[in-house]
Amino acid sequence: MSCAPPRILRPRDGTRLTRRALLVGIPALGLGSVALAGCTGSEAATAAENILSISLNQTETHPSYLALTYFGEKLVESTDGRWGARIYANEALGAQQEVVQLVSDGSVDIAVISAPQVENLSRAFRPLNLPGAFRDIDHQMAVLNEDSLVGELFSSLEPSHRLRVLGGFTQGARHVYTDRGPIEGPDDLAGLRIRVQESDVFMELTRALGGSPTPMAYGEVYTALQAGVLNGAENNEVSYVTQRHYEIAPYFTLTNHLVGLDYVMANVDRIHGMDPADQEAFATSFTAAQEEFVRLWEEETASSIAQMEDAGVTITDPDDDAFAPLVLEAGRSFLDSAEDEALYEAIRAVETNSAAASDGGEG
Ligand code: GCU
Repeated sequence: MSCAPPRILRPRDGTRLTRRALLVGIPALGLGSVALAGCTGSEAATAAENILSISLNQTETHPSYLALTYFGEKLVESTDGRWGARIYANEALGAQQEVVQLVSDGSVDIAVISAPQVENLSRAFRPLNLPGAFRDIDHQMAVLNEDSLVGELFSSLEPSHRLRVLGGFTQGARHVYTDRGPIEGPDDLAGLRIRVQESDVFMELTRALGGSPTPMAYGEVYTALQAGVLNGAENNEVSYVTQRHYEIAPYFTLTNHLVGLDYVMANVDRIHGMDPADQEAFATSFTAAQEEFVRLWEEETASSIAQMEDAGVTITDPDDDAFAPLVLEAGRSFLDSAEDEALYEAIRAVETNSAAASDGGEG
């Protein structure tokens, strides 16, 4: 199958209609038609007998894309060519809020979905997406691997939404960046319109940081910054660089407000449609990709920081207590049931080697 570069589908100058038209076309035309417009991936994985479609809102240089490519390669190898995967990058199949529905109804097989979107489907996921839940990436991965904590939660959307959480890719620590600065404390963010993911928790956290939250899909942020509709956003170094937001918002403030998480979600009926040995190969390939992701993430974060420095970004490291206690308190106010509180505390109590040296209090 031939593939045009997906970048055509995510231009910065707004062909939103084209993408929408494409989305509407998916159920009727099948993914083969969409593939002509936006597919990439390693050759063997995309030449398999059965191809799993994977939706991603990142570029082809992002660690998620690279780890999913690795997943496809492992899968095709371990199923002797019966199953492979094709990744649709750059929101070619839509923004996460729409795509999670497409996975739910089986039009798309797998997608990377940021925690706030999952929390919008089920509040039970909320304790994992509050400031202070995860100290660092090691701790987050330890929690993801702790079946007694997350096993039931990760399969809880199967009956209602046909969605299975396969696991997660870290988003690392998230920070705020702006078109003006430096930002040393909440007063400096007063009146600045900061893009947030579409979630009431993120709206509140941004208010606690001092800014005015503006919910928006990821793929719209560059244009909105450029148009002056936004003064800034919050994300990790890798997204800041791969989305080229530093070109317009060159003040990056290490607010460290949250260690974020992307869930990798699959349509459960599609998995059940594989024979048992292939399901096993699928699970093993995903575990390998999740591990590979952590390695890629560390590498790409370091390289993104170097690129930020080269590009002349002003990186500000505010006082530890300038933002962290405010967001921690704002986050905790969302723990509105004994069950949520218990899960949040159980997550925080998970020990790792790195925890021994830490005071356990990420902002
Ligand atoms: C990160 C994350 C994405 C998410 C994005 C956002 O880049 O990996 O899944 O969509 O943040 O802020 O929307």
